[in-house]
Amino acid sequence: MTMHSPASDWWRDAVIYQVYPRSFSDSDGDGTGDLPGVTARLPHLADLGVDGLWLSPFYRSPLADAGYDVADYRDVDPRFGTLADVDTLIARAHELGLVVLVDLVPNHSSDQHPWFQAALAAGPGSPERARYLFRDGRGANGELPPNNWPSVFGGQGWTRVTEADGRPGQWYLHLFDVHQPDFDWTAPEVRAEFESVLRFWLDRGVAGFRVDVAHGLIKAPGLPDLSAPLDELELLDTNATPFWDQDGVHEVYAAWRGVLDSYGSPERVLCAEAWVSPPERMARYVRSDEMHQSFAFDFLGCRWDAKALRKVIDAELQTMGAVGAPITWVLSNHDVVRHASRLGTADPGPVVGGIRATDPQPDRALGLRRARAATLLMLALPGAAYLYQGEELGLPEHTTLPDAVRDDPVWLRSEHTHAGRDGCRVPLPWVADAPGFGFSPTGASWLPQPAAFAEYAADVQTGVPGSTLEMYREALALRREHRLGRGRLAWVADAPAGTLEFDNGDVRVIVNCSAPAVALPSDRVVAAQSGPLTADGMLPINTAVWLV
Ligand code: GLC
Repeated sequence: MTMHSPASDWWRDAVIYQVYPRSFSDSDGDGTGDLPGVTARLPHLADLGVDGLWLSPFYRSPLADAGYDVADYRDVDPRFGTLADVDTLIARAHELGLVVLVDLVPNHSSDQHPWFQAALAAGPGSPERARYLFRDGRGANGELPPNNWPSVFGGQGWTRVTEADGRPGQWYLHLFDVHQPDFDWTAPEVRAEFESVLRFWLDRGVAGFRVDVAHGLIKAPGLPDLSAPLDELELLDTNATPFWDQDGVHEVYAAWRGVLDSYGSPERVLCAEAWVSPPERMARYVRSDEMHQSFAFDFLGCRWDAKALRKVIDAELQTMGAVGAPITWVLSNHDVVRHASRLGTADPGPVVGGIRATDPQPDRALGLRRARAATLLMLALPGAAYLYQGEELGLPEHTTLPDAVRDDPVWLRSEHTHAGRDGCRVPLPWVADAPGFGFSPTGASWLPQPAAFAEYAADVQTGVPGSTLEMYREALALRREHRLGRGRLAWVADAPAGTLEFDNGDVRVIVNCSAPAVALPSDRVVAAQSGPLTADGMLPINTAVWLV
């Protein structure tokens, strides 16, 4: 295998592109994206100018939660390909100068995982049950769940099993779907298994892992009740719940860091998906002997408001700086409403939960305009950044999916009160006038694509000055040239209200979120812009520029 050799600490300013394999590119025409499809399209990522890609799960899975329910951590689901396809993908990526990160899902497995099946068969008190969180129920006959913890997706977080004798028995914890039983991370076997899984993928040449629900592995001893019921949104926002952000998680990551470091240089990395606030708590995940990166979700969730954005950016700079970690900026992923739509909804706009045809619809033009400005802001900030597939096309959320095709367990478990995340997972448009917009050779697509996707197809944007795709390419090239990811941010004093203005090295960045058109300094030239200037050369609202 060709080994790609980036700088040792490449991750400090890397731009990583998230591939959601199911919806990226389908090579065999069955309507589900696959690994050979990803490999075939890797030149798109190299041309875009990113440093690498993160692959959402492609492991063996019943896809009860789109692959975040893993039945075998060391194999590929036949729908996505084979282990040989992963090897080919990694080798091709390395040839193109791209690193490959994979997703690690340690909080829970699929209920089809052999360990969970063994736990069901073995019965209460067995070592097999000790790998998961089985407990007796409350109430005279154990008919009540062991505590009041909810599932993040809606409903209760416990499900009662039927024991071998046919009687209702113990309950198991699932913070997500009923098909995603939580592991018990106090079990030494669980720890050993995941260290072995890390090695399995590191040995195949991956550059690191995005760690799913990194804040959830350890539960407070005794599994105490929540003091108040929380709805889903509050759950994602919360601190101090007995199942999020427990101090014990850090021991796990310090051990993993040891495993990764044993692979030497270039460094292999861990990126936390930790919905944790305030930023001081988040910074604990990226201390020098733990993870390398942790998504700045405060930035993703921020309103389109200059003051609020500056506050978030300053807080991130301060807290991450205090532990010597870079900030990992992100605006979109497979769990949230795409930023081209989110920023076109009434402030602050839904981050999670999705948008249905019966909900107020985002303003597409406004959303795209702000999204492009937000992207230029993000790519000018010091640190690393993650892009979500399709955002380089300015792709909007599919907000009018028929309810009948929804696949996200959030839709079911929330009893149809939340649309769920399917709208940001719709297969990508590559070719405007091909069947299925070129996603698959047959035109098949596991979720229907809206007709409007034709306008966003990669082929109609390629080489077109001012297209979103070309804006991303130019910005990524300039970011590299000016080493913005390694730079320092210095706010410019007296920026007009409603704007953000800072220097990063020799680049001046101005973002107009809400002000009337602002004049640009006359001694500089525009190097990148998110949209047209006014006829007299001023920066209009919802527009950003980089000046040199
Ligand atoms: C993470 C994933 C999300 C998944 C959940 C449970 O938040 O990003 O897609 O549903 O974990 O694994």
